[in-house]
Amino acid sequence: MGYTAIVGLQWGDEGKGRIVDYLAENFNVVARFQGGANAGHTVTIDGRDYIFHLLPSGMLRPNVTGLIGTGVVLDMDVLIEEIERVEDITGRPLEGRLFIDGRATLVMPFHKAEDQWEERLRGGLGTTKRGIGQTYRDRYARFALRLIDLFNDEHMREAAKKCLEFNNQILGGRYGKPPFAIEPIIKQLKQFREKIAPFVADVPVKLKELENQGAEVLLEGAQGTFLDIFFGTYPFVTSSHTISGGASIGLGIAPWKITRVIGVTKAYTTRVGKGPFPTELDDEIGEEIRKKGHEFGATTGRPRRCGWLDLPMLRFAVLINGVTELAITKLDVISGLDEVKVAVEYELDGSRLKYPPINPVEWQKVKPIYKTLKGWESFWGNILPFEAEDYVKFIEKELGVRATIVSVGKERDAIAKRD
Ligand code: GDP
Ligand code: IMO
Ligand code: MG
Repeated sequence: MGYTAIVGLQWGDEGKGRIVDYLAENFNVVARFQGGANAGHTVTIDGRDYIFHLLPSGMLRPNVTGLIGTGVVLDMDVLIEEIERVEDITGRPLEGRLFIDGRATLVMPFHKAEDQWEERLRGGLGTTKRGIGQTYRDRYARFALRLIDLFNDEHMREAAKKCLEFNNQILGGRYGKPPFAIEPIIKQLKQFREKIAPFVADVPVKLKELENQGAEVLLEGAQGTFLDIFFGTYPFVTSSHTISGGASIGLGIAPWKITRVIGVTKAYTTRVGKGPFPTELDDEIGEEIRKKGHEFGATTGRPRRCGWLDLPMLRFAVLINGVTELAITKLDVISGLDEVKVAVEYELDGSRLKYPPINPVEWQKVKPIYKTLKGWESFWGNILPFEAEDYVKFIEKELGVRATIVSVGKERDAIAKRD
């Protein structure tokens, strides 16, 4: 059986966690492939919100085995806290149900400190300050510590020293900060090692084993397509591969095994942090969407910027992810409006564009060309009003992909019934 990937098609927070949790009922494995504790994936069960940063969002379903791939950067405190929380909620230890690739990279305390100081120094990108960019930088510069490095004392000390030396130079030279000392770091790593040891695995091999037992596998992306390090609105992006291809690299699976790609998009657009956003609404409609959709970051609590749906963006996202199905979320949030708008193309210096320009300077300048559709009354339950159905059909037609999931609330069963 092929694997199913879930990816965000916008700037993150599309509702991936909610969709993963919904689908996980029919899956045996949920695997995270990139990102770190910058992610905040909300799952709502019986009125209670659970926010996942590192563990796969399907973990509240007892039938689900969770995998964390080498593409993920591990914040030690957040990981332990989250494991304990899920064990508390489910009343069962996670051992035997959670496997973390020994090749995954560790976020160090100085990475998080640097992220804070860098944000202050440069006026910042508006990061989540979780040390994400710094950790991936060290991984690619080959200074990073990997989870597996902790399991040999001598090697751990050597790797930590190398990483620390490099980072202390940055801390002193760029930010004028005192160096971090090695001993407290070694102590922290040893404490972490003890707690995490039962979960360390060779994830590609484990996945093969599970597959041989007939497991259905769901791959959970974090962030969104336009935060991708290669294809996003650079430099206002995160530092990992958020697109479906990232699942192959981040978990160690063959690309052809991913046969189904569910692209998650809100029924409108949001963004936290800086960068271009052509359909952003600086008016009372934007404010209303923010209020009604509770558009405040699940990780940082920052207000999210809100705007209309942007089809040039989604067209590109469908293209590079190879989206086979759409999941549209938060359709309920834009109900009660007289009319809703959708950007169908952009205009730039007199020409029409179907896709966003590569050049960010041009993307800042484009004017969205809107199609206005009839709004619909607020609704209860999961039967879509006629106009809301039209809205979904319009998106499906423009993108050439069917919306197999339309979410109309944050609870598990708030999925629209459609023909
Ligand atoms: P993720 O990062 O993609 O998992 O998304 P977040 O959890 O950061 O943000 C999505 C927010 O929208 C969360 O607060 C969800 O509870 C909420 N949500 C998801 N789907 C729906 C929906 O269909 N309707 C409403 N009203 N809220 C939703
Ligand atoms: P989920 O998985 C929304 C944004 C930050 C910032 C940029 C870089 O919940 O969808 P980083 O801390 O990654 O270096 O920040 O990326 N960002 C997100 N925005 N949802 C997320 O994750 C995000 N993770 C990072 O706001 O603009
Ligand atoms: Mg989120």
